[in-house]
Amino acid sequence: MNKEQLDFHKTRRHEFSRLMGEDSIAIIFGNTHINKSYDANYNFRQHKNFYYLTGFLEADSVLMLSQNGIKYFDYDRKKETVSKEILFVQEKDETKETWTGVRLGADKVKQELGIADAKDNFDLPDFLNYNLFKGYKRLFINFADLISLTGEIKEFATQFVDGLRSLAPSIQILDSSFILGKMRRRKTTYELKLMQCAADISANSFNETLKKIKPGMAEYQVQANLEYHYKFNGSSDNAYPPICASGNHANILHYEENNDTLKEGDLILIDSGAEYDYYCSDITRTFPVSGKFSKEQKEVYEIVLDANKQCIKKAKEGVKFDDLKNFCDKVLAEGMASKGILKNKKLYKKYTIHGVGHHIGLDTHDAVPYRLNKELDDKLVVGDVITIEPGLYFPIGSKDIPKKYWGIGVRVEDDVVIGKNGCLNLTKNAVKEIDDIEKFMSESKQ
Ligand code: GLY
Ligand code: MN
Ligand code: MN
Repeated sequence: MNKEQLDFHKTRRHEFSRLMGEDSIAIIFGNTHINKSYDANYNFRQHKNFYYLTGFLEADSVLMLSQNGIKYFDYDRKKETVSKEILFVQEKDETKETWTGVRLGADKVKQELGIADAKDNFDLPDFLNYNLFKGYKRLFINFADLISLTGEIKEFATQFVDGLRSLAPSIQILDSSFILGKMRRRKTTYELKLMQCAADISANSFNETLKKIKPGMAEYQVQANLEYHYKFNGSSDNAYPPICASGNHANILHYEENNDTLKEGDLILIDSGAEYDYYCSDITRTFPVSGKFSKEQKEVYEIVLDANKQCIKKAKEGVKFDDLKNFCDKVLAEGMASKGILKNKKLYKKYTIHGVGHHIGLDTHDAVPYRLNKELDDKLVVGDVITIEPGLYFPIGSKDIPKKYWGIGVRVEDDVVIGKNGCLNLTKNAVKEIDDIEKFMSESKQ
Protein backbone atom coordinates (compact mmCIF):
# COMPACT_ATOMS: atom_id res chain seq x y z
CA MET A 1 0.00 0.00 0.00
CA ASN A 2 1.50 3.38 -0.94
CA LYS A 3 1.68 6.34 1.44
CA GLU A 4 -1.26 8.13 -0.15
CA GLN A 5 -3.51 5.13 0.40
CA LEU A 6 -2.17 4.53 3.91
CA ASP A 7 -2.89 8.15 4.80
CA PHE A 8 -6.38 7.97 3.28
CA HIS A 9 -7.48 4.98 5.36
CA LYS A 10 -5.79 6.37 8.46
CA THR A 11 -7.62 9.68 8.20
CA ARG A 12 -10.89 7.74 7.67
CA ARG A 13 -10.34 5.82 10.93
CA HIS A 14 -9.54 9.01 12.82
CA GLU A 15 -12.56 10.82 11.45
CA PHE A 16 -14.89 7.90 12.15
CA SER A 17 -13.60 7.65 15.74
CA ARG A 18 -14.06 11.39 16.17
CA LEU A 19 -17.62 11.29 14.85
CA MET A 20 -18.53 8.35 17.12
CA GLY A 21 -17.54 10.63 19.98
CA GLU A 22 -15.90 9.95 23.30
CA ASP A 23 -16.90 6.88 25.30
CA SER A 24 -17.62 4.95 22.11
CA ILE A 25 -16.23 1.76 20.71
CA ALA A 26 -16.73 0.27 17.24
CA ILE A 27 -16.47 -3.32 16.09
CA ILE A 28 -16.53 -3.54 12.29
CA PHE A 29 -16.69 -7.00 10.77
CA GLY A 30 -15.12 -7.47 7.33
CA ASN A 31 -16.70 -9.88 4.88
CA THR A 32 -16.41 -13.63 5.26
CA HIS A 33 -16.63 -16.19 2.47
CA ILE A 34 -19.94 -17.06 0.76
CA ASN A 35 -20.30 -20.59 -0.58
CA LYS A 36 -21.10 -20.84 -4.28
CA SER A 37 -21.13 -24.56 -4.96
CA TYR A 38 -20.03 -27.55 -2.88
CA ASP A 39 -16.46 -26.63 -1.91
CA ALA A 40 -16.15 -23.50 -4.06
CA ASN A 41 -16.77 -19.99 -2.75
CA TYR A 42 -17.80 -16.85 -4.60
CA ASN A 43 -14.86 -14.63 -5.47
CA PHE A 44 -14.09 -12.82 -2.23
CA ARG A 45 -15.01 -9.13 -2.13
CA GLN A 46 -14.24 -7.04 0.94
CA HIS A 47 -16.98 -5.22 2.84
CA LYS A 48 -17.02 -1.66 1.49
CA ASN A 49 -17.07 0.16 4.82
CA PHE A 50 -14.37 -2.13 6.19
CA TYR A 51 -12.33 -1.41 3.06
CA TYR A 52 -12.87 2.34 3.51
CA LEU A 53 -11.40 2.17 7.00
CA THR A 54 -8.53 -0.25 6.36
CA GLY A 55 -7.83 -0.94 2.66
CA PHE A 56 -7.35 -4.56 3.77
CA LEU A 57 -8.53 -7.17 1.28
CA GLU A 58 -8.32 -10.42 3.26
CA ALA A 59 -11.41 -12.26 4.34
CA ASP A 60 -12.18 -12.91 8.01
CA SER A 61 -10.92 -9.70 9.59
CA VAL A 62 -12.39 -7.49 12.28
CA LEU A 63 -11.54 -3.90 13.20
CA MET A 64 -12.01 -2.35 16.64
CA LEU A 65 -11.77 1.41 17.10
CA SER A 66 -12.14 3.75 20.05
CA GLN A 67 -11.06 7.34 20.57
CA ASN A 68 -10.67 6.70 24.31
CA GLY A 69 -8.72 3.53 23.69
CA ILE A 70 -9.50 -0.14 24.18
CA LYS A 71 -8.07 -1.52 27.42
CA TYR A 72 -6.87 -5.13 27.54
CA PHE A 73 -4.20 -7.33 29.01
CA ASP A 74 -1.71 -8.06 26.25
CA TYR A 75 -0.40 -11.59 26.77
CA ASP A 76 2.34 -11.09 24.17
CA ARG A 77 3.70 -8.00 25.93
CA LYS A 78 2.55 -9.28 29.34
CA LYS A 79 1.09 -5.95 30.42
CA GLU A 80 -2.08 -3.83 30.48
CA THR A 81 -2.38 -2.09 27.16
CA VAL A 82 -4.55 0.66 25.69
CA SER A 83 -5.03 0.81 21.95
CA LYS A 84 -7.13 3.10 19.74
CA GLU A 85 -7.23 0.62 16.88
CA ILE A 86 -6.85 -3.15 16.69
CA LEU A 87 -7.18 -5.29 13.59
CA PHE A 88 -7.94 -9.00 14.00
CA VAL A 89 -6.67 -11.13 11.12
CA GLN A 90 -6.34 -14.75 10.04
CA GLU A 91 -3.31 -16.37 11.68
CA LYS A 92 -0.34 -17.36 9.54
CA ASP A 93 -0.68 -21.02 8.58
CA GLU A 94 1.64 -22.61 6.03
CA THR A 95 -0.76 -25.37 5.00
CA LYS A 96 -3.79 -23.13 4.61
CA GLU A 97 -1.75 -20.51 2.77
CA THR A 98 -0.63 -23.18 0.28
CA TRP A 99 -4.27 -23.83 -0.56
CA THR A 100 -5.87 -20.42 -0.40
CA GLY A 101 -3.15 -17.76 -0.59
CA VAL A 102 -0.70 -15.82 1.52
CA ARG A 103 -2.01 -14.16 4.68
CA LEU A 104 -0.56 -10.92 5.96
CA GLY A 105 -0.50 -12.04 9.59
CA ALA A 106 -0.77 -9.87 12.69
CA ASP A 107 2.98 -9.11 12.82
CA LYS A 108 2.92 -7.21 9.54
CA VAL A 109 -0.30 -5.23 10.03
CA LYS A 110 1.36 -2.11 11.42
CA GLN A 111 4.02 -1.97 8.72
CA GLU A 112 1.72 -2.76 5.78
CA LEU A 113 -1.58 -1.16 6.81
CA GLY A 114 -0.48 1.46 9.35
CA ILE A 115 -2.96 0.13 11.93
CA ALA A 116 -1.42 0.45 15.38
CA ASP A 117 -2.20 -2.99 16.82
CA ALA A 118 -3.13 -6.41 15.52
CA LYS A 119 -4.14 -9.78 16.90
CA ASP A 120 -4.93 -13.21 15.52
CA ASN A 121 -8.60 -14.01 15.16
CA PHE A 122 -8.50 -16.68 17.87
CA ASP A 123 -7.98 -13.83 20.37
CA LEU A 124 -11.37 -12.38 19.42
CA PRO A 125 -13.48 -14.24 22.04
CA ASP A 126 -11.23 -12.80 24.79
CA PHE A 127 -12.01 -9.30 23.53
CA LEU A 128 -15.64 -9.74 22.59
CA ASN A 129 -16.87 -10.26 26.11
CA TYR A 130 -18.72 -8.18 28.62
CA ASN A 131 -15.52 -6.73 30.15
CA LEU A 132 -14.54 -4.98 26.95
CA PHE A 133 -17.59 -2.74 27.07
CA LYS A 134 -17.19 -1.45 30.62
CA GLY A 135 -16.94 2.31 30.66
CA TYR A 136 -18.30 2.91 27.17
CA LYS A 137 -21.61 4.59 26.45
CA ARG A 138 -21.99 3.53 22.83
CA LEU A 139 -21.13 0.45 20.80
CA PHE A 140 -21.14 0.77 17.00
CA ILE A 141 -21.41 -2.41 14.91
CA ASN A 142 -22.26 -3.24 11.31
CA PHE A 143 -25.41 -5.07 12.35
CA ALA A 144 -26.77 -6.30 9.03
CA ASP A 145 -23.55 -8.18 8.41
CA LEU A 146 -23.69 -10.17 11.65
CA ILE A 147 -26.31 -12.55 10.30
CA SER A 148 -24.26 -13.55 7.28
CA LEU A 149 -20.92 -14.21 9.02
CA THR A 150 -19.37 -17.55 8.10
CA GLY A 151 -16.27 -19.58 8.98
CA GLU A 152 -13.99 -18.82 11.89
CA ILE A 153 -15.36 -15.31 12.48
CA LYS A 154 -18.85 -16.73 12.91
CA GLU A 155 -17.43 -19.21 15.40
CA PHE A 156 -15.42 -16.60 17.34
CA ALA A 157 -18.28 -14.05 17.37
CA THR A 158 -21.20 -16.35 18.21
CA GLN A 159 -21.11 -15.73 21.94
CA PHE A 160 -20.84 -12.00 21.37
CA VAL A 161 -23.84 -11.95 19.02
CA ASP A 162 -25.88 -14.07 21.46
CA GLY A 163 -24.88 -11.72 24.31
CA LEU A 164 -25.99 -8.52 22.58
CA ARG A 165 -29.42 -8.87 24.17
CA SER A 166 -27.97 -8.72 27.70
CA LEU A 167 -25.55 -5.98 26.70
CA ALA A 168 -28.25 -3.77 25.18
CA PRO A 169 -29.80 -2.28 28.38
CA SER A 170 -26.38 -1.07 29.56
CA ILE A 171 -24.89 0.45 26.44
CA GLN A 172 -26.39 2.16 23.38
CA ILE A 173 -25.89 -0.17 20.45
CA LEU A 174 -25.84 1.64 17.12
CA ASP A 175 -25.19 0.74 13.51
CA SER A 176 -21.93 2.05 12.10
CA SER A 177 -23.34 2.55 8.58
CA PHE A 178 -24.93 5.96 9.15
CA ILE A 179 -21.77 7.80 10.20
CA LEU A 180 -19.71 5.98 7.59
CA GLY A 181 -22.33 6.78 4.96
CA LYS A 182 -22.12 10.48 5.81
CA MET A 183 -18.34 10.35 5.58
CA ARG A 184 -18.39 8.47 2.28
CA ARG A 185 -20.57 11.05 0.58
CA ARG A 186 -17.89 13.66 -0.12
CA LYS A 187 -15.05 12.07 -2.07
CA THR A 188 -11.44 13.02 -1.35
CA THR A 189 -8.89 13.81 -4.06
CA TYR A 190 -7.48 10.31 -3.61
CA GLU A 191 -10.89 8.72 -4.14
CA LEU A 192 -11.62 10.90 -7.17
CA LYS A 193 -8.43 9.67 -8.82
CA LEU A 194 -9.62 6.08 -8.43
CA MET A 195 -13.08 6.98 -9.68
CA GLN A 196 -11.54 8.63 -12.75
CA CYS A 197 -9.58 5.40 -13.39
CA ALA A 198 -12.77 3.33 -13.12
CA ALA A 199 -14.57 5.77 -15.43
CA ASP A 200 -11.74 5.80 -18.00
CA ILE A 201 -11.57 2.00 -18.13
CA SER A 202 -15.35 1.86 -18.63
CA ALA A 203 -15.53 4.65 -21.22
CA ASN A 204 -12.72 3.15 -23.30
CA SER A 205 -14.30 -0.31 -23.04
CA PHE A 206 -17.63 1.09 -24.26
CA ASN A 207 -15.88 2.68 -27.25
CA GLU A 208 -14.02 -0.54 -28.07
CA THR A 209 -17.22 -2.56 -27.72
CA LEU A 210 -19.11 -0.15 -29.96
CA LYS A 211 -16.73 -1.07 -32.81
CA LYS A 212 -17.84 -4.70 -32.58
CA ILE A 213 -21.62 -4.23 -32.50
CA LYS A 214 -23.50 -5.62 -35.50
CA PRO A 215 -26.69 -7.54 -36.28
CA GLY A 216 -26.55 -11.23 -35.43
CA MET A 217 -24.30 -10.76 -32.42
CA ALA A 218 -25.53 -12.09 -29.08
CA GLU A 219 -26.13 -9.71 -26.16
CA TYR A 220 -23.75 -11.85 -24.06
CA GLN A 221 -21.06 -11.27 -26.68
CA VAL A 222 -21.48 -7.54 -26.18
CA GLN A 223 -21.09 -8.18 -22.45
CA ALA A 224 -18.01 -10.35 -23.08
CA ASN A 225 -16.39 -7.55 -25.08
CA LEU A 226 -16.95 -5.06 -22.28
CA GLU A 227 -15.71 -7.43 -19.60
CA TYR A 228 -12.61 -8.35 -21.61
CA HIS A 229 -11.60 -4.70 -21.80
CA TYR A 230 -12.42 -4.07 -18.13
CA LYS A 231 -10.27 -6.94 -16.95
CA PHE A 232 -7.50 -6.32 -19.46
CA ASN A 233 -7.20 -2.76 -18.20
CA GLY A 234 -6.93 -3.66 -14.54
CA SER A 235 -10.50 -3.56 -13.30
CA SER A 236 -11.08 -5.92 -10.39
CA ASP A 237 -14.78 -6.55 -11.01
CA ASN A 238 -17.98 -5.33 -12.60
CA ALA A 239 -19.52 -2.56 -10.51
CA TYR A 240 -22.84 -4.42 -11.09
CA PRO A 241 -24.12 -7.02 -13.53
CA PRO A 242 -23.90 -5.55 -17.06
CA ILE A 243 -27.17 -4.78 -18.84
CA CYS A 244 -26.91 -5.42 -22.60
CA ALA A 245 -30.52 -4.95 -23.64
CA SER A 246 -31.36 -4.98 -27.33
CA GLY A 247 -34.72 -3.95 -28.78
CA ASN A 248 -37.66 -4.05 -26.42
CA HIS A 249 -35.51 -5.50 -23.58
CA ALA A 250 -34.22 -1.94 -23.01
CA ASN A 251 -37.60 -1.24 -21.42
CA ILE A 252 -36.80 -3.60 -18.55
CA LEU A 253 -34.66 -1.37 -16.37
CA HIS A 254 -32.50 -4.09 -14.83
CA TYR A 255 -32.50 -6.60 -17.70
CA GLU A 256 -29.54 -8.88 -16.97
CA GLU A 257 -30.30 -12.00 -19.03
CA ASN A 258 -28.29 -10.80 -22.02
CA ASN A 259 -29.15 -13.89 -24.07
CA ASP A 260 -30.99 -12.47 -27.08
CA THR A 261 -29.63 -11.73 -30.55
CA LEU A 262 -29.06 -8.18 -31.84
CA LYS A 263 -31.38 -7.45 -34.74
CA GLU A 264 -30.96 -5.09 -37.69
CA GLY A 265 -32.91 -1.91 -37.01
CA ASP A 266 -32.96 -2.31 -33.19
CA LEU A 267 -31.16 -0.26 -30.60
CA ILE A 268 -29.01 -1.77 -27.88
CA LEU A 269 -28.92 -0.13 -24.46
CA ILE A 270 -25.73 -0.94 -22.55
CA ASP A 271 -25.62 -0.07 -18.86
CA SER A 272 -22.39 -1.19 -17.28
CA GLY A 273 -19.37 -0.04 -15.29
CA ALA A 274 -16.01 -1.28 -14.17
CA GLU A 275 -14.84 -1.21 -10.59
CA TYR A 276 -11.28 -0.04 -9.93
CA ASP A 277 -9.71 -0.52 -6.49
CA TYR A 278 -13.25 -1.00 -5.18
CA TYR A 279 -14.53 2.29 -6.67
CA CYS A 280 -17.38 2.10 -9.17
CA SER A 281 -18.37 3.67 -12.43
CA ASP A 282 -21.77 3.50 -14.07
CA ILE A 283 -22.30 4.33 -17.75
CA THR A 284 -25.26 3.88 -20.07
CA ARG A 285 -25.09 4.35 -23.80
CA THR A 286 -27.66 3.44 -26.43
CA PHE A 287 -26.45 2.47 -29.90
CA PRO A 288 -28.13 1.51 -33.18
CA VAL A 289 -27.32 -2.15 -33.92
CA SER A 290 -26.92 -1.51 -37.66
CA GLY A 291 -24.78 1.61 -37.16
CA LYS A 292 -27.44 4.23 -38.05
CA PHE A 293 -30.34 5.56 -35.97
CA SER A 294 -33.78 5.43 -37.57
CA LYS A 295 -35.80 8.70 -37.66
CA GLU A 296 -37.86 7.70 -34.61
CA GLN A 297 -34.87 6.37 -32.67
CA LYS A 298 -33.04 9.63 -33.39
CA GLU A 299 -35.97 11.69 -32.13
CA VAL A 300 -36.11 9.81 -28.84
CA TYR A 301 -32.33 9.76 -28.47
CA GLU A 302 -32.10 13.52 -29.02
CA ILE A 303 -34.57 14.22 -26.21
CA VAL A 304 -32.70 12.00 -23.77
CA LEU A 305 -29.27 13.32 -24.75
CA ASP A 306 -30.55 16.88 -24.37
CA ALA A 307 -31.82 16.09 -20.86
CA ASN A 308 -28.49 14.44 -19.99
CA LYS A 309 -26.52 17.49 -21.19
CA GLN A 310 -28.81 20.10 -19.66
CA CYS A 311 -28.73 18.33 -16.27
CA ILE A 312 -24.93 18.07 -16.40
CA LYS A 313 -24.83 21.82 -17.09
CA LYS A 314 -27.06 22.50 -14.11
CA ALA A 315 -25.40 20.20 -11.55
CA LYS A 316 -23.31 22.15 -9.05
CA GLU A 317 -23.00 22.91 -5.37
CA GLY A 318 -26.24 24.09 -3.78
CA VAL A 319 -28.62 22.55 -6.35
CA LYS A 320 -31.16 20.24 -4.72
CA PHE A 321 -31.05 16.69 -6.03
CA ASP A 322 -34.85 16.70 -6.19
CA ASP A 323 -34.87 19.94 -8.20
CA LEU A 324 -32.45 18.36 -10.66
CA LYS A 325 -34.82 15.40 -10.97
CA ASN A 326 -37.82 17.68 -11.57
CA PHE A 327 -35.85 19.68 -14.12
CA CYS A 328 -34.86 16.46 -15.90
CA ASP A 329 -38.47 15.26 -16.02
CA LYS A 330 -39.53 18.63 -17.42
CA VAL A 331 -37.00 18.48 -20.26
CA LEU A 332 -38.07 14.92 -21.08
CA ALA A 333 -41.80 15.70 -20.91
CA GLU A 334 -41.46 18.81 -23.07
CA GLY A 335 -39.28 16.93 -25.53
CA MET A 336 -41.89 14.19 -25.90
CA ALA A 337 -44.67 16.75 -26.31
CA SER A 338 -42.81 18.87 -28.86
CA LYS A 339 -42.08 15.86 -31.06
CA GLY A 340 -45.65 14.58 -30.78
CA ILE A 341 -44.57 11.40 -29.00
CA LEU A 342 -46.79 12.01 -25.96
CA LYS A 343 -49.84 14.24 -26.34
CA ASN A 344 -50.87 14.30 -22.68
CA LYS A 345 -47.82 15.70 -20.87
CA LYS A 346 -49.27 14.70 -17.51
CA LEU A 347 -48.57 11.06 -18.30
CA TYR A 348 -44.80 11.60 -18.67
CA LYS A 349 -43.92 9.62 -15.52
CA LYS A 350 -45.09 6.38 -17.15
CA TYR A 351 -42.33 6.76 -19.71
CA THR A 352 -39.48 8.36 -17.73
CA ILE A 353 -39.96 5.87 -14.84
CA HIS A 354 -36.87 6.49 -12.69
CA GLY A 355 -35.11 9.44 -11.08
CA VAL A 356 -32.28 11.50 -12.53
CA GLY A 357 -29.50 9.59 -10.79
CA HIS A 358 -27.89 8.49 -7.55
CA HIS A 359 -24.70 8.94 -5.55
CA ILE A 360 -21.88 6.64 -6.65
CA GLY A 361 -18.59 5.67 -5.00
CA LEU A 362 -17.55 2.45 -3.31
CA ASP A 363 -21.04 1.19 -4.15
CA THR A 364 -22.72 1.86 -7.49
CA HIS A 365 -25.76 3.14 -5.63
CA ASP A 366 -23.56 4.56 -2.92
CA ALA A 367 -24.39 3.69 0.67
CA VAL A 368 -24.66 7.33 1.67
CA PRO A 369 -27.62 8.91 3.45
CA TYR A 370 -29.87 11.03 1.28
CA ARG A 371 -33.53 11.64 0.60
CA LEU A 372 -34.95 9.54 3.48
CA ASN A 373 -33.90 11.85 6.25
CA LYS A 374 -35.32 15.38 6.22
CA GLU A 375 -32.51 16.59 8.48
CA LEU A 376 -30.02 15.81 5.76
CA ASP A 377 -29.86 18.52 3.21
CA ASP A 378 -30.79 17.40 -0.28
CA LYS A 379 -28.50 20.09 -1.69
CA LEU A 380 -25.49 18.87 -3.63
CA VAL A 381 -22.11 19.63 -2.07
CA VAL A 382 -18.59 19.86 -3.47
CA GLY A 383 -17.14 16.34 -3.64
CA ASP A 384 -20.44 14.55 -4.25
CA VAL A 385 -20.26 12.15 -7.16
CA ILE A 386 -23.60 11.43 -8.78
CA THR A 387 -24.90 9.84 -11.95
CA ILE A 388 -27.03 11.76 -14.43
CA GLU A 389 -29.11 9.21 -16.29
CA PRO A 390 -32.30 10.36 -18.00
CA GLY A 391 -34.19 7.76 -19.98
CA LEU A 392 -37.32 7.26 -22.06
CA TYR A 393 -38.99 3.87 -22.32
CA PHE A 394 -41.71 2.88 -24.79
CA PRO A 395 -42.38 -0.84 -24.37
CA ILE A 396 -44.38 -2.61 -27.07
CA GLY A 397 -48.04 -1.91 -26.34
CA SER A 398 -47.54 1.60 -24.83
CA LYS A 399 -51.10 2.97 -25.17
CA ASP A 400 -50.36 6.70 -25.17
CA ILE A 401 -47.49 6.51 -27.65
CA PRO A 402 -47.64 6.21 -31.47
CA LYS A 403 -46.84 2.68 -32.55
CA LYS A 404 -43.77 3.70 -34.54
CA TYR A 405 -41.97 4.39 -31.22
CA TRP A 406 -42.85 1.06 -29.59
CA GLY A 407 -39.89 -1.06 -28.58
CA ILE A 408 -37.57 1.95 -28.21
CA GLY A 409 -35.80 2.38 -24.87
CA VAL A 410 -33.05 4.96 -24.47
CA ARG A 411 -30.91 5.97 -21.50
CA VAL A 412 -27.74 8.09 -21.48
CA GLU A 413 -25.81 7.99 -18.21
CA ASP A 414 -22.67 9.78 -17.01
CA ASP A 415 -20.89 10.10 -13.66
CA VAL A 416 -20.13 13.65 -12.49
CA VAL A 417 -18.22 15.24 -9.61
CA ILE A 418 -19.98 18.21 -8.10
CA GLY A 419 -17.94 21.41 -7.90
CA LYS A 420 -18.61 24.96 -6.74
CA ASN A 421 -19.56 26.35 -10.12
CA GLY A 422 -20.36 23.28 -12.15
CA CYS A 423 -19.40 19.65 -12.40
CA LEU A 424 -16.70 17.47 -13.89
CA ASN A 425 -17.88 14.66 -16.14
CA LEU A 426 -15.77 11.58 -15.35
CA THR A 427 -17.26 9.52 -18.19
CA LYS A 428 -17.16 12.13 -20.96
CA ASN A 429 -14.85 9.92 -23.08
CA ALA A 430 -17.63 7.43 -23.82
CA VAL A 431 -19.06 8.60 -27.15
CA LYS A 432 -22.64 9.81 -27.01
CA GLU A 433 -23.26 12.33 -29.82
CA ILE A 434 -25.30 10.82 -32.68
CA ASP A 435 -22.75 11.83 -35.33
CA ASP A 436 -19.86 10.42 -33.32
CA ILE A 437 -21.64 7.12 -32.69
CA GLU A 438 -22.54 6.69 -36.36
CA LYS A 439 -19.07 7.75 -37.53
CA PHE A 440 -17.40 5.41 -35.04
CA MET A 441 -19.59 2.52 -36.13
CA SER A 442 -19.14 3.10 -39.85
CA GLU A 443 -15.35 3.47 -39.57
CA SER A 444 -15.01 0.30 -37.54
CA LYS A 445 -16.84 -1.68 -40.22
CA GLN A 446 -14.54 -0.64 -43.07
N1 GLY B 1 -26.91 0.38 -13.36
C1 GLY B 1 -27.82 0.77 -12.41
C2 GLY B 1 -28.09 2.20 -12.50
O1 GLY B 1 -27.82 2.82 -13.49
O2 GLY B 1 -28.54 2.79 -11.57
MN1 MN C 1 -26.32 2.46 -14.87
MN1 MN D 1 -26.93 4.53 -12.43
